[in-house]
Amino acid sequence: MTGRIRNRDLARKVVDAEEAASLIRNGDNVGMSGFTGAGYPKEVPGALAKRVAKAGVEGTPMKLGLWTGASTAPELDGVLAEVDGIDLRMPYQSDPVTRDKINRGSLDYTDIHLSHVAQRVWQGFFGKLDVAVVEVSGITEEGLLIPSTSVGNNKTWLDQADRVILEVNSWQSTSLEGMHDIYYGTALPPGRRPIPIIGPGDRIGSAYLHCPPEKVVAVVETDSPDRNTHFTPPNSDSRRIAGHLLDFLELEVRAGRLPKNLLPLQSGVGNIANAVLAGLQDGPFDELTAYTEVIQESMLELIDSGRMRSASATAVSLSPAAMDRFNARMAEYRDRIVLRPQEISNHPEVIRRLGCLAMNGIIEADIYGNINSTHLMGSRIQNGIGGSGDFARNSYLSMFMTPSLAKNGAISTIVPMVSHVDHTEHDVDVVVTEQGLADLRGLAPRRRAELIIERCAHPDYRPALRDYFERAQRSSFGAQTPHLLSEALSWHENYVRTGSMRG
Ligand code: COA
Repeated sequence: MTGRIRNRDLARKVVDAEEAASLIRNGDNVGMSGFTGAGYPKEVPGALAKRVAKAGVEGTPMKLGLWTGASTAPELDGVLAEVDGIDLRMPYQSDPVTRDKINRGSLDYTDIHLSHVAQRVWQGFFGKLDVAVVEVSGITEEGLLIPSTSVGNNKTWLDQADRVILEVNSWQSTSLEGMHDIYYGTALPPGRRPIPIIGPGDRIGSAYLHCPPEKVVAVVETDSPDRNTHFTPPNSDSRRIAGHLLDFLELEVRAGRLPKNLLPLQSGVGNIANAVLAGLQDGPFDELTAYTEVIQESMLELIDSGRMRSASATAVSLSPAAMDRFNARMAEYRDRIVLRPQEISNHPEVIRRLGCLAMNGIIEADIYGNINSTHLMGSRIQNGIGGSGDFARNSYLSMFMTPSLAKNGAISTIVPMVSHVDHTEHDVDVVVTEQGLADLRGLAPRRRAELIIERCAHPDYRPALRDYFERAQRSSFGAQTPHLLSEALSWHENYVRTGSMRG
């Protein structure tokens, strides 16, 4: 016992992971905690995967619906996918084994906007939630749950599940207590009330998750760390993309369209996003704020240096070194960082009111500004839409970033027509590659195409894009958005057939 379970009744429910996993039955829908490798249960999924493997060997296969906040880790997604224990996965994943099973057709995947999950679950579209398996960093005397490094959908899982298994993780800092803001005011319409967040740092709810103690069927203790991956310094393409974006933001300030401290930033995760945030460290902007999904390495550095005043998210995902720093200085961060349920961190109403500046990575963009964030060659899933749609549709400025080439130049990420659409031209204000930035606001499709081809495409592919666009203008069915239908996806077809878009 680590002293993290201060409630006597719940302390009596401590069992090992195997016993807890035995309470999950074939066919159950299981809602687990976890968001971007943070705050996922560390023990029960592994024990569950062993049960599933054993059941398979004994000829009584076991399958589960697996719901989370977003991506988790190999110890959750990976182990359960490996033993074919997942029937339906939602709402987001980035695990190689899971991805492979989805793309082979042996695992169903529903990829949905992260802000929509709670509502869809309340409405029963995924069936009944049988079990919640939720990591917490502690339990108070009164039985209140102290969340850990992510909140995600935990409030919804605890509300909706018949049975609850808690994992109390003593690796998580005790100082997390007080960092969270769990809002219990959301409901289905009619009669919805405004969500009273006026600034990113506002607190409008409880610091704790609530769960009737009688629903808790097991408590498991662990001290395993989050997935915390090592930080990769931004590469040269990412730095150039960041440079274009930061120059653009400076111009927007000068034009009077943005205040000097910008507006609340939303940033996807990964190398490019890190480069943008790192660039802000040396830029002219102070008193920054963030209203985003994940606090990552470079955002923490902005807080450390005093450049960023406050940040709201649903998870903290850091390298081991940054995590040590985070844990050591948690008391200071508690005043600057608020962790919320993802239905609030990604809430369209709040994003629109705050006027977020959304910056997300993509797979490809087409010459008219439609965006594919999720599928390779139109049919193979990479990760999922995540929160990109929540932010793209509702932000003040919706910006998408990608290197202009993929697979060592065999792929142009600027194509005649995207092979899958996640964000339509109507939700895309800016496209930026290492080549340059296209500001699409106010432009009709043909003017957008000229800009995207000339500013964003790689010089190796620019002539072929110009040629396509010119011929399309001559022989398209209509002049609003000129396309050659038999050729529009031929670049992708070439890649699938020959391994290169060059044909
Ligand atoms: N066509 C085919 N493959 C492509 C491609 C393209 N246009 N662009 C990239 N790829 C491949 C890469 O080669 C790489 O393949 P590999 O894993 O075999 O090396 C893979 O796709 C991932 O590309 P990478 O450049 O490493 O991706 P990233 O880490 O920069 O992430 C996304 C880019 C789009 C996958 C990622 O941002 C994402 O999942 N976005 C959607 C969700 C989102 O926006 N979340 C944040 C919202 S809050």
